[in-house]
Amino acid sequence: MKIVILGAGGRLGSALMREYREKFDVTGFNHAQLDLSDHAQLREKLGTCDIDLVINTAAFANVDLCETQRGEAFRINAEAPRVLAEICRDKNAKLIHFSTDYVFDGEKREPYTEDDVAKPISVYGESKWEGEKLVLQTHGHLVVRVSWVFGPDRPSFIDGMIKRARESDQVDAIADKISTPTYTRDIAQALPQFFDSDVPGGILHFASSGECSWQEYAQWAIDCCHAEGVPLKATTVEPRRMSDMKNWIAPRPVYSVLSTAKYTALTGIAPRSWRDVVGDYVKGSYSKK
Ligand SMILES: NC(=O)c1ccc[n+]([C@@H]2O[C@H](COP(=O)([O-])OP(=O)(O)OC[C@H]3O[C@@H](n4cnc5c(N)ncnc54)[C@H](OP(=O)(O)O)[C@@H]3O)[C@@H](O)[C@H]2O)c1
Repeated sequence: MKIVILGAGGRLGSALMREYREKFDVTGFNHAQLDLSDHAQLREKLGTCDIDLVINTAAFANVDLCETQRGEAFRINAEAPRVLAEICRDKNAKLIHFSTDYVFDGEKREPYTEDDVAKPISVYGESKWEGEKLVLQTHGHLVVRVSWVFGPDRPSFIDGMIKRARESDQVDAIADKISTPTYTRDIAQALPQFFDSDVPGGILHFASSGECSWQEYAQWAIDCCHAEGVPLKATTVEPRRMSDMKNWIAPRPVYSVLSTAKYTALTGIAPRSWRDVVGDYVKGSYSKK
């Protein structure tokens, strides 16, 4: 199977490259090699490739910057996926496009299913939702929504919290924002079940099981570091409220847990718990033992 991965230099794209390099015929494009805002370049570069599957992990993912760069956000997060969907349709190839829990408004208090109506509250969320709709106009393509993605290839929230706990005796994190941390390695291992063109497209949620606040996430990461012998200056994460975040430009959903019931029904597999995957990551990336 010939696979093209876009966003190959990003957090998720790098993990997919590593996981699939040995198993499939994979070509990766990072931002410098292929700019999704240049749709002519997209058609030109991919037009000459022999492709069975395109996986798009590239995105304009800076939630605050999207607020002030709406045109760019829609060009990369909505229009480019439409162009990709058309290229794939013309080549009889499948597109797997990544999206986000930020398509929801966060008003629910139980996990969002694929049937829940998206109602984004930020430009980032709006642009990603528009991208989903444009991709799904082409039969057979798959949109995979993920949440709170972390992994070894690019620092994210968890790495920032661990760094602060190593350097300072005071660490705090937001206690009133809830979702589920998801490890890039788990996404990379789950995805091949959906590669075949026979597997129906549509929307699919993938995340670890369970839910937590950013404070609980950070506390668990630091507890795991402590257990692994990582030297820390802070061992307790103090709570903060979303309303304290005066420097945020974009509104964020308070609650954005993704239900993985559909994933489990389709595959017979339950995702690992968020505590297990965080523990695994800390062991692999930070352990001194
Ligand atoms: N991270 C999360 O918590 C999270 C949560 C929910 C959903 N998602 C979704 O998951 C997917 C992967 O996210 P990630 O965590 O891997 O983010 P990431 O590390 O920021 O990766 C995104 C990649 O897209 C590239 N990119 C940005 N603009 C581009 C452009 N115009 N042309 C080509 N490439 C461009 C970036 O390159 P540069 O950095 O070099 O610009 C980066 O390598 C995205 O669709 C995102 O919306 C992520």
